[in-house]
Amino acid sequence: MWTPTSMKAALHSLFLFFITLSASHHSSSSCPLHHKQALLQFKSMLSTYHADNSSSLTELKSWNSSSANCCTWAHVNCSLRLPLKLVTELHLSSIAHGDSYISSEVLVPLFRIESLLVLDISKNSLQGRIPGDELSNLTNLAYLDMRQNYRINGSIPSQIFSMKSLRHLDLSSNSLFGNLSGNISSLSNLELLHLGFNFLKGTIPSEIGKLSKLQSLSLVSNNFEGGIPTSISELSELQELDLGINSLSGSIPYLREMRKLEILVFYENNLSGEIPIWLFDHGNLQQLFLDGNNLSWNNTAEISPKCNLFVLSLGSCGMSGKIPNWLSQQKNLVILNLQKNKLSGGIPPWICKLELQMIDLSYNNLTGQLPSCVLKSESLLGIQLSGNSLSGELPSNISNATTILSLELNSNNFSGELPESILSIASLGLLDLSNNKLSGEIFTKFRIKSSLSFLNLSFNCFSDKLPISFGNSIETIILNNNNISVLSIIDLSNNKLHGYIPPNLTNLRGMMGEAGADSIFYVAEQNDAVINWKGSPQALADTDIMMYPFLDLSNNELSGEIPEHFGNLKGLKSLNLSHNNITGGIPPSIGQLEDLESLDLSHNKLSGEIPNSFGKLHDLTKLDLSNNRLTGRIPQGSQISTLDDLSGYANNSGLCGIQINVQCVSAAAPSDVLPRGLNDEEGNADKWLTLEALCLGYVFGLAWALGLAYYGILRPNLAQCAFYHRRKPHHNFRV
Ligand SMILES: *[C@@H]1O[C@H](CO)[C@@H](O)[C@H](O)[C@H]1NC(C)=O
Ligand SMILES: *[C@@H]1O[C@H](CO)[C@@H](O)[C@H](O)[C@H]1NC(C)=O
Ligand SMILES: *[C@@H]1O[C@H](CO)[C@@H](O)[C@H](O)[C@H]1NC(C)=O
Ligand SMILES: *[C@@H]1O[C@H](CO)[C@@H](O)[C@H](O)[C@H]1NC(C)=O
Ligand SMILES: *[C@@H]1O[C@H](CO)[C@@H](O)[C@H](O)[C@H]1NC(C)=O
Ligand SMILES: *[C@@H]1O[C@H](CO)[C@@H](O)[C@H](O)[C@H]1NC(C)=O
Ligand SMILES: *[C@@H]1O[C@H](CO)[C@@H](O)[C@H](O)[C@H]1NC(C)=O
Ligand SMILES: *[C@@H]1O[C@H](CO)[C@@H](O)[C@H](O)[C@H]1NC(C)=O
Ligand SMILES: *[C@@H]1O[C@H](CO)[C@@H](O)[C@H](O)[C@H]1NC(C)=O
Ligand SMILES: *[C@@H]1O[C@H](CO)[C@@H](O)[C@H](O)[C@H]1NC(C)=O
Ligand SMILES: *[C@@H]1O[C@H](CO)[C@@H](O)[C@H](O)[C@H]1NC(C)=O
Ligand SMILES: *[C@@H]1O[C@H](CO)[C@@H](O)[C@H](O)[C@H]1NC(C)=O
Repeated sequence: MWTPTSMKAALHSLFLFFITLSASHHSSSSCPLHHKQALLQFKSMLSTYHADNSSSLTELKSWNSSSANCCTWAHVNCSLRLPLKLVTELHLSSIAHGDSYISSEVLVPLFRIESLLVLDISKNSLQGRIPGDELSNLTNLAYLDMRQNYRINGSIPSQIFSMKSLRHLDLSSNSLFGNLSGNISSLSNLELLHLGFNFLKGTIPSEIGKLSKLQSLSLVSNNFEGGIPTSISELSELQELDLGINSLSGSIPYLREMRKLEILVFYENNLSGEIPIWLFDHGNLQQLFLDGNNLSWNNTAEISPKCNLFVLSLGSCGMSGKIPNWLSQQKNLVILNLQKNKLSGGIPPWICKLELQMIDLSYNNLTGQLPSCVLKSESLLGIQLSGNSLSGELPSNISNATTILSLELNSNNFSGELPESILSIASLGLLDLSNNKLSGEIFTKFRIKSSLSFLNLSFNCFSDKLPISFGNSIETIILNNNNISVLSIIDLSNNKLHGYIPPNLTNLRGMMGEAGADSIFYVAEQNDAVINWKGSPQALADTDIMMYPFLDLSNNELSGEIPEHFGNLKGLKSLNLSHNNITGGIPPSIGQLEDLESLDLSHNKLSGEIPNSFGKLHDLTKLDLSNNRLTGRIPQGSQISTLDDLSGYANNSGLCGIQINVQCVSAAAPSDVLPRGLNDEEGNADKWLTLEALCLGYVFGLAWALGLAYYGILRPNLAQCAFYHRRKPHHNFRV
């Protein structure tokens, strides 16, 4: 940590260093010429990457060769109390905006400024290896921050181990690989060492225990394996230890003497053995993350904690019996995660006395009711109780939880009606009540103003009809396996929907690409989500903060015609109305769905011609109109003419056109002829992501909303999501 004391110490050592220098430099009001030249050379090298857009270097505007004293330039600090004005600090975080990656060679000129104490070059899209030889000339450097350049690669240069003044070394979130050498121990002044989110491997060297001044050590998200060295317990100044998301094995070492420990993160490793109860003797411990290992819990051990925890995350830790009573003494607890244990009994009433914000007790064996007092908390943000055996009615005071964002009570035995008040919770964004025995009529209870974005009521006993009066924020509604007769949005496939597609469907804001339809789709930093889109995995870059709106009403018993104004759903990227009994023609307005990438109207009774407006669907990559009664010429257009999956036209009443090699000779075209030998392409048009993407969307969205993405508290939900992801059976196309 860069504390004022360490800064002072660094300045002092620099002072001594320069006093011992010969006074060959004349005292002057300007910075040394070679410092200025180094900075200008850095700028000019940097600008070659922004040649066509110099405005992206606006941060360095003041770095101008006609300005003599580089100490006055932005982001540059000089030593003022010394006889010479020497550049000592460069604060260059996020100065190079733009898309282009910049070679790390641009750093070389900066490494000639031997007086540097502080160099922050984080978040600049640098790529390539760290120029180690040049860097190690900065023998006074105390603070080096290169984090979040993402593509700095190569191994940690061995020359760095000679930079004995380093107190703060942050190389996290890059692409460094190779081992961490035991020579790291020569950096004996280190107070902070962050190497997380790289590709480092091998064992954690036991020499790390010699870094006796270390206060913060993070190796999170690398490929380290082997045991946690026992020498780590010698780091008596350590406040934060984060070794999460690696492949570390063995047991938790004896850390009892780390009296200053505040944050201990071991989650997502292969650690085994019993969770030592002395962990709870650490008077300063505030955050403990042990989930996602093979650890076990001594269910008979008596714990009288001396810690005052703020976060306790013990998911999958083999806990059984009742929720431990000693937790009731943890008055500061804000986040409690005990998911995937074997806890039984009821939810203890003392839980209401804590000011919990996040409660995750999902996938245990809890029974009894949900105590209504749990919902009285005004700080509650999320409750996950999925996968237990909780029963009874939902508490009628559910709206007392005025700040709650996420309520997951799915896969329990809750019964009775949905309390009316549930939907008046203004903040509620995610509600999952699926797989219970809830009943009653539900839709009248939804308010337009609700901020609900994800709603899963499937596998219950709800019954109701229409109306489409969900709030403006709704993006996902899952209602299958109820007794609901007609409705709207997103995944209603395989329901038993009868009746018509309601014309009101064409007024859904969420699909009309309006600014108001904010999307929950947020992918946490560093996590390019991979979704299945059109049958193949696609990575969504973290800049893609958008949703892929789709409408899937396939496999129902819908009849009647497609509403004329369907083309109003401007934001639609995929539309699936297949396997219904829809009749009439295809409305020309569908050609106005300019973003449409996938369209499946197969297995209906659609007749007439394919509208010429289809020629304007320039994003269309998947089209299935097979098994209808369509006739006439297949329209041409820049995109539709390139679609070469002929099975998408199969089994109609007389289509013709160059796409299917059938000449439109006359009005009476030969009936559904396709060249023989065509592959029976499976009907994979309806296999592209449905719920999986939404799951990702809501998990990351929520994690982001709660600011917890970093510790991935909500990550295990993905497994739960996998449950939703179902593939439909293959349809065989007759040719
Ligand atoms: C530089 O890029 C910005 C945003 O990318 C753009 O608005 C600006 O017009 C560009 N300037 C030049 C000179 O190309
Ligand atoms: C540098 O400064 C001089 C005078 O201060 C000015 O005329 C010139 O335009 C500046 N150059 C740049 C590239 O900003
Ligand atoms: C560095 O210089 C900036 C002005 O360029 C000043 O605001 C800041 O306080 C200086 N920082 C230190 C640590 O001297
Ligand atoms: C390091 O990054 C550079 C620039 O992106 C790339 O050319 C090089 O192949 C990378 N080296 C390795 C070993 O991945
Ligand atoms: C590093 O320092 C050595 C000796 O002080 C010098 O010879 C060498 O040129 C320097 N390298 C760079 C890249 O500045
Ligand atoms: C570690 O230091 C030793 C002795 O100084 C040296 O021989 C060895 O090459 C160094 N290893 C690395 C990886 O820097
Ligand atoms: C890296 O570490 C592994 C395991 O600790 C070891 O087998 C290997 O020799 C090391 N490689 C180097 C280059 O030090
Ligand atoms: C569990 O804790 C109890 C009570 O402290 C102790 O007697 C027992 O030996 C412990 N079991 C194991 C396996 O350590
Ligand atoms: C859950 O608890 C019940 C009794 O409360 C018990 O019969 C059942 O076996 C437990 N299930 C599991 C998976 O532990
Ligand atoms: C809690 O909910 C109940 C029932 O809806 C209501 O009567 C009560 O006023 C609520 N309490 C608070 C503090 O909002
Ligand atoms: C459906 O549309 C009709 C007229 O367009 C309107 O009167 C009715 O209120 C709408 N229903 C809903 C539920 O929005
Ligand atoms: C379509 O309707 C007919 C009766 O009109 C019915 O027999 C058939 O099962 C329906 N098909 C589908 C896919 O719903």
